Amino acid sequence: MSRFQLQSSASGLRLADTQSRQHPLQIDFASGQFSYRLRKGGGKQESLAKAVGIKQGLSVLDCTAGLGRDSFLLASMGCNVTMLERSRVMALLLEDALRRAKNHDDLKVSVNRIRLVHANAIGYLAALEQVPDVIMLDPMFPTRKKSAHVKGEMQVLQRFLGSDGDIEELFAAALATSCKRLVVKRPVSEKSELSPTFSLKGSSTRFDVFVR
Ligand SMILES: C[S@@+](CC[C@H](N)C(=O)[O-])C[C@H]1O[C@@H](n2cnc3c(N)ncnc32)[C@H](O)[C@@H]1O
Repeated sequence: MSRFQLQSSASGLRLADTQSRQHPLQIDFASGQFSYRLRKGGGKQESLAKAVGIKQGLSVLDCTAGLGRDSFLLASMGCNVTMLERSRVMALLLEDALRRAKNHDDLKVSVNRIRLVHANAIGYLAALEQVPDVIMLDPMFPTRKKSAHVKGEMQVLQRFLGSDGDIEELFAAALATSCKRLVVKRPVSEKSELSPTFSLKGSSTRFDVFVR
């Protein structure tokens, strides 16, 4: 039996780690915690909003969808978001979560601003037809030590996917486009390949913003 199992439950698809007592991973944009963030924190004061230069109708290409939180927050602030995810399992979990959110009165407007594509962003960027206003990258950086900041669902994601071994290629592919604004989310103390135009630091993460 494989360690990770994709299960279909009454509440939707979920990913279980059979070697952990942690709850299976399910993406739920209507969860209490995320709804709170959408209501209170998902506003224009969020570093994420400042990093992308939030504006109604801004087009954002989120190359690393993951749990879809950043994409959903941006959509709730009026951005039109295309999110890319290369893991088939994560793409299925996202698809399931978006489908459920469509039936939710408070979420359906935001969901309609999101498009999910199951693809590797490196190839997608190389063949980009419509250049978005902003490209966003938030890959899985290698964990140097046990991080107290990585909690809950992100822990399961880290165990399931490990770290992304091609971050430099992804960064180079994003830089090779003519997009005017590139946002890279990374651990706060992680070095940057190039000096960003500006950075926004939080307690555990940092947004490096490259404006051209
Ligand atoms: C740290 S998570 C992103 C979390 C996300 N920002 C959120 O708010 O939930 C990184 C995700 O990016 C995906 N990813 C990494 N490199 C990618 C690539 N080249 N193309 C598409 N997806 C990629 C990984 O599979 C993983 O699901």
